[in-house]
Formats: sequence, C-alpha cells, structure tokens
Amino acid sequence: MKLAIVGGGSTYTPELIDGFTRYRDILPVQQIALVDPDPRRLELVGGMARRMLARAGHPAQILATTDLREGVEGADAVLIQLRVGSQDARHADETWPHEAHCIGQETTGPGGFAKALRTVPVVLRIADVVRAHAAPGAWIVDFTNPVGIVTRALLRAGHRAVGLCNVAIGFQRRFAAMLGVTPDEVALGHVGLNHLTWERSVSVAGRDILPDLLRDSLGDLADEVELAPSLLAQLGVVPSYYLRYYYAHDEVLAEQLHEPSRAEAVRAIENELLEMYADPSVDQKPEALGRRGGAFYSEAAVELLAEVRGAGGPARVVNLRNDGVLPFLPDDHVIEVPARFTGGAFVAEPVDALDDDIRGLIAAVAGYERLALDAAVHGGRDRVIRAMRAHPLVLQHDRAERLTDLLLRANRGFLEWA
Ligand code: G6P
Ligand code: MN
Repeated sequence: MKLAIVGGGSTYTPELIDGFTRYRDILPVQQIALVDPDPRRLELVGGMARRMLARAGHPAQILATTDLREGVEGADAVLIQLRVGSQDARHADETWPHEAHCIGQETTGPGGFAKALRTVPVVLRIADVVRAHAAPGAWIVDFTNPVGIVTRALLRAGHRAVGLCNVAIGFQRRFAAMLGVTPDEVALGHVGLNHLTWERSVSVAGRDILPDLLRDSLGDLADEVELAPSLLAQLGVVPSYYLRYYYAHDEVLAEQLHEPSRAEAVRAIENELLEMYADPSVDQKPEALGRRGGAFYSEAAVELLAEVRGAGGPARVVNLRNDGVLPFLPDDHVIEVPARFTGGAFVAEPVDALDDDIRGLIAAVAGYERLALDAAVHGGRDRVIRAMRAHPLVLQHDRAERLTDLLLRANRGFLEWA
C-alpha cells in the first residue's frame, strides 16, 4: 500500500516510521510519501526515515516531496498532521489570550479557535487534491488539531475521513500497565469531544475496574491529569488532561503567566531532534521524541490503518459523526468515542446516558465548535465574535470582543478574509 503523510516534515514523523517498522506484519506499507512545503525539513526527516527503515530491514520506499499532488497520487490512505504557521503561530495562540485573562492553549479556548480558523481552509484544499488524485476509496486520517472541528469540516465536505488523537490510547496503555494486562484487554468507556473527554469505565474481561482504580490509585490518577483527587472522586470518572483548562482554569493561567510557552519548549526539543535527524549515524527513534506529547500516536495510526484494511479487532477510540450516539447533539456533530470498523465505515459503540455536568459542558463546547467551523469556512468578524462568546471559557460579550481583536491582530497574515 501507498501511504501519504501530509506534514511529513514534522519532527514527529520518525514516531510514525517507528510504528510502521514495529507493526510491519499487520500493515504492509510499500511506499511512504512525505509531503511538506519545507524542503529542508523534508531532507532531514526523509533521510532519518530512510535510515530507520533500512535498519529495521523494512522494504518501504520513502518519497519526500513538496508537491502535494505527486505525494497523494494513488495513495491508499492519507494522514494529515500539519501545523499552519508552525510553532510561531502556536506561541501566539498560547499567549495573546492572557491579555483577556484567559488560558492560552493551542487546541482549547481562544487559541484553539485561532488554530481552527487558520487550519480548516488549508486542510479542505488538501482534501480536494486527495479526492482527485488518491486511490478510489482512500481514507483521510486527520491528526491535525483541533481534530474535532477539522474532522467535521472534512465530513461536511463529503470526504472519507476519521479523526485521531492519542489521549485515549495513552489512557489504555497506562491502565494496562497499572493492571499488568495487555492494552487490547482494556476497553475504555471514553466519551466526549476531542480534547474534552472522560474515562467513565475501564473494562477488563467484561468487568469495570474503574471504581477499584479510583479507590486504590486515586492520587496517581489525579497526578497524571493534574487535577484534584477530590474532583475525580466526586465525578467517579477520569477526566483527560485537557479538562484542566476548564476545572483548573485560573490555576493554569497563573502558571502560564510566569512560564515559557509550550511552543518555546517544543521549539527547543525540535532543534535537538533536527540535529539528530541530520546525523547520518542516527537510525533509531531518538529518546528526545518522548518529550513531545504525541506518545503512542504511531500505534493509534497503525492500528486504525490496519483496521480499515480489514484487520478487524476491538473497538478503538476515533472522532466520527455522532448520529444519535449522544442524543443531545446534532447527528452531524463529531464526537470522540470507541467505534468498530464494519461494512466500510466506523460505527460507534452505544454510550450510556451522561451525568448532567458532563453533558452540559459537552453541549456548550459543541455549540462553540459549530460556530467556530462556520467562522472558519465563511469568515467575518461577527462570526468570530459569536463563536468566541459561545466558548464556555469566554462567555462574556466584552471579553469575546476583546479576544476577537487580539485573535485577528495575531492572525491577519493567515486569514484570507481578515
Ligand atoms: C497530545 C495531543 C495532541 C497534541 C500533542 C501536543 O498528544 O493529543 O493533539 O498535538 O499532545 O504535544 P506537544 O509535544 O506538541 O506539546
Ligand atoms: Mn490530540
């Protein structure tokens, strides 16, 4: 099979290549096209990818190209993992919201909204090229954040797309290690929207052991997601790390005001990684990659691609159309839940009714996401204000206007309509 990776010059790509080498039995990849607008990145990351494959004795060929059409031509699947404006734009997303007393985060709140506005038009243009030139029936796997909004944009435009994030697989691996079982033995009751999820059950051999975990390992679980143990105990579920931006908003903001941004930290890690990728003697995934947030994302990608090719297997957490699974959301909203690949499509597992607090927050953020996509597709200051105000971290009208001014000022070069 041919696989195209759009944003293939990412320093994350060796993580994926590592996954392809480890899982070569379940995913027979013959050609990997790395597509990126940055020729220097392509040279460094492409070289590293070739050395990793050679070391593992993997037969796949690497095609590194700046030409999107050439890269996706005949591809059986296309992974999109790009970042419009790279770490500079991310640094902006992580800092300008501070001026209006709001956390700065690249996927959550005003910063995530800015990222959606920059990203959706770019991904839609790429998807049109995929539709015209990839193999018939090719799937688009979207890793590009904000995954929920971007995946919904793709589905609305009629593309065969599924969104993927590593939060669920991270929990699955973590719980499996705590319990001394294999990851596939752990089934998560994972529910919500991308980067707004809760683990409501952890089933092993059909038995939910989450109550036991919350009793015996409450402190560890709370530490992991950097939230108060009393919060986890009251909810009886494990919120993802991204819920910190809601449940501990002011605390996070206070930290952010006197710490370097995550973009700055990532820039330093990336420079280190690129130096290693440039070294012809390095042919294994560097340890420094473990300091990025993307742990296990290659495994999530490989498992998903194998499943789409008919491998079967247990339910896996993906971003897909709601279609009644969460009855309080429109059918065309994109949710993040366990699903199985059957009959050529992902089908979500049923979800038990949610508690009022969790349902309320999901509904509010879903409202924001819908207005945000409308603003990303159609543009216009009024649409931006409306979506900004709908976000539960904003809500106040004057703050929404102030944040909109800050967003537009920071992103003028990226928004065709601004
Ligand atoms: C997690 C999230 C990704 C996000 C990443 C950021 O993996 O699920 O969606 O892109 O963290 O990691 P970074 O190293 O860039 O901060
Ligand atoms: Mn994610």
